[in-house]
Amino acid sequence: MSSYVIEGGTRLTGECTVQGAKNSALPILAASLICDGTSVIKNCPRLLDVEATVKILGHLGCTVKREGNTVSVTSDNASEYVIPERLMREMRSSVIFLGAILARNKKVVLSTPGGCDIGLRPIDLHLEAMKKLGAEVREEYGNIECSAPEGLKGASVTLSFPSVGATENIMVAASTAKGTTTVINAAREPEISDLADFLNSCGAKISGAGQGTIVIEGVKRLTGTVHTVLPDRIAASTYMCAAAITGGEVKFNNIIPAHIGPEIELFEETGCRIFTDSRSLYLKAPERLKSVKLIRTMPYPGFPTDIGAPVAALLTKAKGTSVIIETIFENRFRYAGELIRLGAKIRVDGRMAVIEGVSRLHGVGVQATDLRGGAALMIAALSAEGESRITEIRHIERGYEGPEKILSALSAKIKRIDGEDGEE
Ligand code: UD1
Repeated sequence: MSSYVIEGGTRLTGECTVQGAKNSALPILAASLICDGTSVIKNCPRLLDVEATVKILGHLGCTVKREGNTVSVTSDNASEYVIPERLMREMRSSVIFLGAILARNKKVVLSTPGGCDIGLRPIDLHLEAMKKLGAEVREEYGNIECSAPEGLKGASVTLSFPSVGATENIMVAASTAKGTTTVINAAREPEISDLADFLNSCGAKISGAGQGTIVIEGVKRLTGTVHTVLPDRIAASTYMCAAAITGGEVKFNNIIPAHIGPEIELFEETGCRIFTDSRSLYLKAPERLKSVKLIRTMPYPGFPTDIGAPVAALLTKAKGTSVIIETIFENRFRYAGELIRLGAKIRVDGRMAVIEGVSRLHGVGVQATDLRGGAALMIAALSAEGESRITEIRHIERGYEGPEKILSALSAKIKRIDGEDGEE
């Protein structure tokens, strides 16, 4: 089991470049399955979840090549329509292949990704949507079979919740369906617009992405394109938390400040000074952070659930009491216990966490419980006195590309230790 060893207390300074967005790269890679020829995806981060997606594409019959951060997918021979359970389990968001396989092969068999570290993550909205598009859906003992022998047909789909994954599956499935599909109450995340940009560049006719109603006019075929994945807003805000908790001063490149409006407001509320232009952001932290009254996570353009944990870590050192209410996932506070081991004062009551800021955290051994919770531990450890060792870092590496390299370049004392039990 590999680990990060962090000697806390160093102020982060300098410049860093933010990675490509995991949550864009995954659906775009899956969508490349329905394109003829080759799709070239640039700025594709090296992450465990991306590797898991590439494995699934390979299993389905695609030829996938990676050169640096560019991944090329050629899908011409992808006739396999079954994703075995072992591949489904490697990544919770593997359900993102549902619409693509169904559109390409008129049939798909996969297993439910199952419950996960942050909540149950049901996929009923995805399946209902596929039914609306004309698929027959059979679900038995965690196995899902969808088929549409005559092909999918455009329809009006109203989502009871603006699910990111369901919106993406519908967009992909409807791109080559017969007729027009309208998604009402669609998710509005920037990654939805990125997927639409990719698909449109392949020849799809999608309008309204980024708004509550998306219209997809089905086309006969899509052809591979060259697409650059947008910057990762969650990774950006995570590193901003790291800079802020250490009283640091950092310039972030490859960041789109317009995508992190509520996060910027929060950093300003804690006393950080922020300057932005269209693709970069400069953050200077105060000597002591201030608490914030209330953060309530919401679908975009609200405060993202994914940044709740890193912000909770940040607020453990703020002067005063802060409250975070999580409205999207039911089990997002598992990391709180590990932050408490580092000296934080946090009370969790259902979907609410109350954080009473302390002036000191101390280094100890902690265990990452999930992706964003793991990032929270890194942030807290960077400002703790003494050495911390974070284990189960595979969770962190699902979504952050070489965090030890990025943080070291900003002067943090962090080492990645490889090995069975964290030995060098
Ligand atoms: C995506 C992101 C994840 C982020 C989340 C919310 C990717 C790869 N992952 O996940 O990082 O935290 O959006 O912004 O893009 N739900 C149902 N039934 C469904 C689908 C969802 O009840 O069929 C519920 C979920 O349990 C959850 C909520 O809707 O409570 C939001 O889920 P959703 O927007 O679908 O998130 P994901 O696409 O899984």
